[in-house]
Amino acid sequence: MTQLDERTATVPFAVTDPWWIDRERYYDRTFFELERDRLWNSVWQMACRLEEIPAVGDYVEYTICDQSVLVVRTGPEQIKGYYNACRHRATQLALGCGSFRGGQIVCPFHGWRWNIDGSPSFIYGAEGFAAASSNAASTPGAGACSSTSTATPAHCGRRSSPCRRCSTPSASTACGSTGGRPCV
Ligand code: FES
Repeated sequence: MTQLDERTATVPFAVTDPWWIDRERYYDRTFFELERDRLWNSVWQMACRLEEIPAVGDYVEYTICDQSVLVVRTGPEQIKGYYNACRHRATQLALGCGSFRGGQIVCPFHGWRWNIDGSPSFIYGAEGFAAASSNAASTPGAGACSSTSTATPAHCGRRSSPCRRCSTPSASTACGSTGGRPCV
Protein backbone atom coordinates (compact mmCIF):
# COMPACT_ATOMS: atom_id res chain seq x y z
CA MET A 1 0.00 0.00 0.00
CA THR A 2 1.43 3.40 -0.97
CA GLN A 3 1.59 6.39 1.37
CA LEU A 4 -1.26 8.01 -0.55
CA ASP A 5 -3.33 4.85 -0.28
CA GLU A 6 -2.81 4.82 3.49
CA ARG A 7 -3.88 8.46 3.85
CA THR A 8 -7.00 8.01 1.77
CA ALA A 9 -8.00 4.58 3.01
CA THR A 10 -10.64 5.99 5.34
CA VAL A 11 -12.10 8.51 2.89
CA PRO A 12 -15.77 7.74 2.32
CA PHE A 13 -16.61 6.62 -1.16
CA ALA A 14 -12.93 6.27 -1.99
CA VAL A 15 -12.07 6.13 -5.66
CA THR A 16 -11.03 2.57 -6.36
CA ASP A 17 -11.57 2.54 -10.09
CA PRO A 18 -9.79 5.39 -11.94
CA TRP A 19 -12.68 5.54 -14.42
CA TRP A 20 -15.48 5.96 -11.89
CA ILE A 21 -16.34 8.23 -8.99
CA ASP A 22 -19.05 7.03 -6.65
CA ARG A 23 -22.23 8.98 -7.19
CA GLU A 24 -22.60 9.55 -3.43
CA ARG A 25 -19.74 12.02 -3.57
CA TYR A 26 -22.09 14.43 -5.32
CA TYR A 27 -24.97 14.34 -2.88
CA ASP A 28 -23.96 12.64 0.37
CA ARG A 29 -24.35 15.08 3.26
CA THR A 30 -21.46 13.63 5.26
CA PHE A 31 -19.13 13.87 2.30
CA PHE A 32 -20.18 17.48 1.72
CA GLU A 33 -19.43 18.29 5.36
CA LEU A 34 -16.02 16.65 5.12
CA GLU A 35 -15.18 18.69 2.03
CA ARG A 36 -16.44 21.87 3.69
CA ASP A 37 -14.41 21.28 6.86
CA ARG A 38 -11.24 19.73 5.47
CA LEU A 39 -10.92 20.58 1.80
CA TRP A 40 -12.24 23.99 0.83
CA ASN A 41 -10.35 25.85 3.54
CA SER A 42 -7.08 24.33 2.37
CA VAL A 43 -7.03 24.51 -1.39
CA TRP A 44 -6.81 27.18 -4.06
CA GLN A 45 -9.99 27.72 -5.99
CA MET A 46 -10.86 29.50 -9.20
CA ALA A 47 -12.66 32.66 -8.10
CA CYS A 48 -13.25 34.41 -11.43
CA ARG A 49 -11.72 35.18 -14.79
CA LEU A 50 -9.77 38.39 -15.14
CA GLU A 51 -12.01 39.48 -18.01
CA GLU A 52 -14.80 39.78 -15.44
CA ILE A 53 -12.93 42.58 -13.66
CA PRO A 54 -11.22 44.49 -16.49
CA ALA A 55 -11.03 47.93 -14.88
CA VAL A 56 -9.44 49.05 -11.64
CA GLY A 57 -12.19 49.03 -9.01
CA ASP A 58 -14.18 46.21 -10.61
CA TYR A 59 -15.14 43.36 -8.32
CA VAL A 60 -16.73 39.94 -8.30
CA GLU A 61 -18.19 38.25 -5.26
CA TYR A 62 -16.94 34.69 -4.87
CA THR A 63 -18.83 32.39 -2.56
CA ILE A 64 -17.88 28.97 -1.26
CA CYS A 65 -20.07 27.18 1.29
CA ASP A 66 -21.05 29.89 3.78
CA GLN A 67 -18.16 32.21 2.94
CA SER A 68 -18.19 35.28 0.72
CA VAL A 69 -15.11 36.97 -0.71
CA LEU A 70 -14.78 40.10 -2.84
CA VAL A 71 -12.23 39.74 -5.63
CA VAL A 72 -11.18 43.28 -6.56
CA ARG A 73 -8.93 44.63 -9.29
CA THR A 74 -6.79 47.07 -7.34
CA GLY A 75 -4.39 47.92 -10.14
CA PRO A 76 -3.73 47.13 -13.81
CA GLU A 77 -1.72 44.07 -12.76
CA GLN A 78 -3.02 43.42 -9.25
CA ILE A 79 -6.01 41.62 -7.80
CA LYS A 80 -6.88 41.46 -4.11
CA GLY A 81 -9.46 39.52 -2.18
CA TYR A 82 -11.33 40.76 0.86
CA TYR A 83 -13.71 39.15 3.28
CA ASN A 84 -17.10 40.42 2.27
CA ALA A 85 -17.81 41.64 5.77
CA CYS A 86 -17.36 45.00 7.43
CA ARG A 87 -14.81 45.10 10.25
CA HIS A 88 -17.30 47.06 12.34
CA ARG A 89 -20.47 44.94 12.56
CA ALA A 90 -19.81 42.44 9.78
CA THR A 91 -22.34 43.92 7.38
CA GLN A 92 -22.01 42.49 3.87
CA LEU A 93 -20.12 45.02 1.76
CA ALA A 94 -21.17 44.12 -1.80
CA LEU A 95 -23.17 41.61 -3.81
CA GLY A 96 -22.65 39.94 -7.15
CA CYS A 97 -20.38 42.00 -9.35
CA GLY A 98 -19.81 45.63 -10.24
CA SER A 99 -17.36 48.43 -9.70
CA PHE A 100 -16.47 50.35 -6.57
CA ARG A 101 -17.17 53.90 -7.63
CA GLY A 102 -14.57 56.43 -6.70
CA GLY A 103 -12.26 53.60 -5.70
CA GLN A 104 -14.08 53.25 -2.39
CA ILE A 105 -15.52 50.20 -0.66
CA VAL A 106 -18.32 51.63 1.46
CA CYS A 107 -20.18 49.76 4.17
CA PRO A 108 -23.91 50.41 3.72
CA PHE A 109 -24.60 50.38 7.47
CA HIS A 110 -22.55 53.13 9.15
CA GLY A 111 -20.46 54.18 6.19
CA TRP A 112 -17.01 52.93 7.08
CA ARG A 113 -14.93 53.17 3.94
CA TRP A 114 -11.80 51.62 2.51
CA ASN A 115 -9.69 52.40 -0.51
CA ILE A 116 -9.63 49.47 -2.89
CA ASP A 117 -6.12 48.59 -1.67
CA GLY A 118 -7.71 47.80 1.69
CA SER A 119 -6.49 50.84 3.58
CA PRO A 120 -9.16 52.70 5.59
CA SER A 121 -10.37 56.05 4.27
CA PHE A 122 -13.12 56.78 6.78
CA ILE A 123 -14.10 55.30 10.15
CA TYR A 124 -17.17 56.92 11.62
CA GLY A 125 -16.51 57.75 15.27
CA ALA A 126 -12.91 56.61 15.01
CA GLU A 127 -12.08 58.40 18.25
CA GLY A 128 -14.34 55.93 20.06
CA PHE A 129 -12.26 52.96 19.07
CA ALA A 130 -9.04 51.89 20.73
CA ALA A 131 -5.92 51.98 18.59
CA ALA A 132 -5.93 48.21 18.29
CA SER A 133 -9.51 48.25 17.06
CA SER A 134 -8.71 50.95 14.55
CA ASN A 135 -5.86 48.82 13.24
CA ALA A 136 -8.24 45.92 12.90
CA ALA A 137 -10.34 48.15 10.69
CA SER A 138 -7.43 48.69 8.36
CA THR A 139 -8.86 46.41 5.72
CA PRO A 140 -12.29 45.01 5.00
CA GLY A 141 -10.56 41.76 5.79
CA ALA A 142 -8.48 39.87 3.36
CA GLY A 143 -5.37 38.81 1.60
CA ALA A 144 -4.17 39.31 -1.91
CA CYS A 145 -2.86 37.48 -4.87
CA SER A 146 -1.37 39.34 -7.78
CA SER A 147 -2.19 37.70 -11.00
CA THR A 148 -1.45 38.39 -14.61
CA SER A 149 -2.94 35.17 -15.87
CA THR A 150 -6.47 34.85 -17.17
CA ALA A 151 -7.96 33.64 -13.93
CA THR A 152 -7.84 34.57 -10.30
CA PRO A 153 -7.18 31.96 -7.66
CA ALA A 154 -8.77 32.13 -4.26
CA HIS A 155 -7.82 30.49 -1.00
CA CYS A 156 -9.91 30.38 2.14
CA GLY A 157 -7.65 28.90 4.75
CA ARG A 158 -5.23 29.99 7.44
CA ARG A 159 -2.85 27.23 6.41
CA SER A 160 -2.57 28.58 2.93
CA SER A 161 0.76 28.89 1.21
CA PRO A 162 1.48 31.45 -1.49
CA CYS A 163 -0.22 31.05 -4.78
CA ARG A 164 2.03 29.17 -7.15
CA ARG A 165 1.69 31.94 -9.72
CA CYS A 166 2.92 34.72 -7.48
CA SER A 167 5.09 35.38 -4.49
CA THR A 168 2.50 37.36 -2.53
CA PRO A 169 1.87 35.65 0.82
CA SER A 170 -1.84 36.02 0.10
CA ALA A 171 -4.39 34.70 2.49
CA SER A 172 -2.45 33.34 5.40
CA THR A 173 -1.44 36.54 7.14
CA ALA A 174 -4.65 38.46 6.85
CA CYS A 175 -6.86 35.47 7.47
CA GLY A 176 -5.14 34.65 10.71
CA SER A 177 -6.35 37.89 12.24
CA THR A 178 -9.95 36.83 11.99
CA GLY A 179 -9.56 33.22 12.84
CA GLY A 180 -8.49 31.78 9.56
CA ARG A 181 -11.60 32.57 7.70
CA PRO A 182 -11.70 33.03 3.97
CA CYS A 183 -9.90 35.32 1.66
CA VAL A 184 -8.35 35.22 -1.74
S1 FES B 1 -21.34 47.72 10.11
FE1 FES B 1 -20.09 48.60 8.62
S2 FES B 1 -19.80 50.59 9.30
FE2 FES B 1 -20.95 49.68 10.85
